[in-house]
Amino acid sequence: MMRCFNNRGTYSIAGFLIHYTFCPIAMDFFFRRKRALKTLLSLSLVFASLLMIQKFKLVDNSIKDDMEVKRLEDAGWCGPECDFYKGKDLLKSSLGNYSPPVLGDDLDAPRVKMSNDTPSTWDVHVMNCSEDSAVRKNDWFRRLDPRFHQFVLHRHCRYFPMLINHPDKCRNGDVHLLMVVKSVIEQHDRREAVRNTWGREQAIDGKRIKTLFLLGSPTNGKDTKNLQKLIEYEDIIYGDILQWDFMDTFFNLTLKEVNFLKWFDIHCSSAKFIFKGDDDVFVNTKNLLELIGFKTEDRKVLNLFVGDTISKAIPIRNHQSKYYIPKELFDKPYPPYVGGGGFLMSSQLAQRLFVVSEDLELYPIDDVFLGMCLQKLHLTPEMHIGFRTFGIMKRRVSPMNREPCFFKNLIVVHKLSPQELLRMWSVVENKELVCAKYTAP
Ligand SMILES: *[C@@H]1O[C@H](CO)[C@@H](O)[C@H](O)[C@H]1NC(C)=O
Ligand SMILES: *[C@@H]1O[C@H](CO)[C@@H](O)[C@H](O)[C@H]1NC(C)=O
Repeated sequence: MMRCFNNRGTYSIAGFLIHYTFCPIAMDFFFRRKRALKTLLSLSLVFASLLMIQKFKLVDNSIKDDMEVKRLEDAGWCGPECDFYKGKDLLKSSLGNYSPPVLGDDLDAPRVKMSNDTPSTWDVHVMNCSEDSAVRKNDWFRRLDPRFHQFVLHRHCRYFPMLINHPDKCRNGDVHLLMVVKSVIEQHDRREAVRNTWGREQAIDGKRIKTLFLLGSPTNGKDTKNLQKLIEYEDIIYGDILQWDFMDTFFNLTLKEVNFLKWFDIHCSSAKFIFKGDDDVFVNTKNLLELIGFKTEDRKVLNLFVGDTISKAIPIRNHQSKYYIPKELFDKPYPPYVGGGGFLMSSQLAQRLFVVSEDLELYPIDDVFLGMCLQKLHLTPEMHIGFRTFGIMKRRVSPMNREPCFFKNLIVVHKLSPQELLRMWSVVENKELVCAKYTAP
């Protein structure tokens, strides 16, 4: 999804240039210069041995840490809300000065209210989202662009009844990565393509992946009844739909965000990681798992939130833009946030985001809203060059959109049609595809 990136409009083009020239030509270059190759080989041998030594140390440490986590998990007093502390204990114990957690007594996470009354099932059954007519009396409301009237009048309605739920999705407690995909009822072929590619429910090297699609209800003026029947039928076949009873409009995307966070807190907090993205992106599942592996090794799980980060954006004031925000609604720079096309976060962080989100007014742009939640936790999302959710789209005709090595070396690329996704997936998955190893500039 495109927003404003006044500080970086062309980075992905540059990224592409570096990659594109590197991939086909670099190998050739190295093989012609044998002497350079020899030097390079001996250097990499030294480097590899250093890595091995380092690795042994890490394995040693992680065994110790596993034992620590095990002990905490065995403690029956600790409900799902303690997962946050389990992670923190891990950090402290690795520093060798473990002490019992005290609320508000830490530097790496700000003071948060604990969700100590997490219900065990979805507890919203009726929704009477009538408009907040008091807002109409305000001066600023009268000045406000009418496109935002609906949003402002219904801003107080946050949680909605579920039309389709799968409370047992994570019952076995063994979900390593939950793929959560924003979709709308009509985009059936996109969901189909995701199920057959990066969203396939499977275990890779013993790591279980599950997938869920997040949907609202059909918008007014559409063939509501039939669309609803279709989606219910689709869910009987695949069992991977979560649907809430709010209209699936652009400004309601933030509802998808907060209702999912609440759902996750209730039904799935045992899952270790969440990838959240659009239904029209390419995800390199293997690379994503590898990134998770690195972050786990580096013990960077507690505050893990990685994606295509924008740091100095300001609200767009161009009325023509899809992302236009009137001054009356928001008149400050945005906090750093991650493009909603695809990002990775840990379960611990998702649970804390849920808690702080409840104290924030809804914002019509969902990824900016998450940025605001992160800011409340005093966290900055991590920028990762493998997530390409901005910028590429503009150059639809550029050859990189068809260059398989480009996709093989990245984690998320937007924006593909279902056919393009299927085609690219089969090429990238093909073991015979040989690419130069990607080195981030
Ligand atoms: C919904 O709310 C309105 C205004 O608060 C009230 O008049 C109406 O009776 C409510 N409807 C239901 C079904 O609760
Ligand atoms: C969001 O959904 C609610 C419930 O269906 C609806 O009342 C409201 O108008 C929607 N808001 C926007 C901005 O579309």
